[in-house]
Amino acid sequence: MENGAAPTAKPVIVAIDGPSGTGKSSTSKAVAAQLGLSYLDTGAQYRAITWWMVTNGIDLEDPTAIAAVAGKPEIVSGTDPAAPAITVDGVDVAGPIRTQEVTSKVSAVSAVPEVRARITELQRSLAAGAANGIVVEGRDIGTTVLPDADLKIFLTASPEARAARRSGELKGADVAATREALIKRDAADSSRKTSPLAKAGDAVEVDTTELTLAQVIECVVTLVEEKRAGK
Ligand code: DC
Repeated sequence: MENGAAPTAKPVIVAIDGPSGTGKSSTSKAVAAQLGLSYLDTGAQYRAITWWMVTNGIDLEDPTAIAAVAGKPEIVSGTDPAAPAITVDGVDVAGPIRTQEVTSKVSAVSAVPEVRARITELQRSLAAGAANGIVVEGRDIGTTVLPDADLKIFLTASPEARAARRSGELKGADVAATREALIKRDAADSSRKTSPLAKAGDAVEVDTTELTLAQVIECVVTLVEEKRAGK
């Protein structure tokens, strides 16, 4: 160092994509907390806009109706990994966005290009404003939202492992039914025309099937640290 000052870490942008049940949220939150970075759950944003559409009686079978109101709700996401928060028009929706009804409808809403354009803009502005850097988790972060991210991770796991984890989170929901619902949602998310769930060409794929959450976190923390060290 020319003046002897400690080097200041450059903000690091980490994109973590993958289907549901791969441990994306738990991993992303823990990595952000451990490294002092902000955290953004983009699935929560799509769930929040879906919750607003359901609450306002929008016909979710009709993409034109969804597109027409995509700009109406004001969605505000907190970026503290210790206390992820989300509001719609000032209402705390952290609980209501996790209901079965929202989960079953979110793929239809998030496939509408006007919805994606709106939410993508919010995501980019939050990422740009994160002073220390940010971990952003979703489906299209490395491919579309932040294609210049410093590090891109794509998490995978077998359908059985994903269903077992999700039914555990849902407090003992039927594993076979959860597996079917997951496969259906992944197929919808992967086959939509606008920015589908996909692995970026330069993403590091981590198969979490045989790994504990602690091992996945350690693996991603190491990858971020190596990136920061310029390896
Ligand atoms: O991660 P999650 O299960 O909470 O995401 C809910 C839905 O949101 C998911 O089925 C697809 C959609 N989604 C998306 O289309 N793009 C993202 N970046 C994140 C989520």
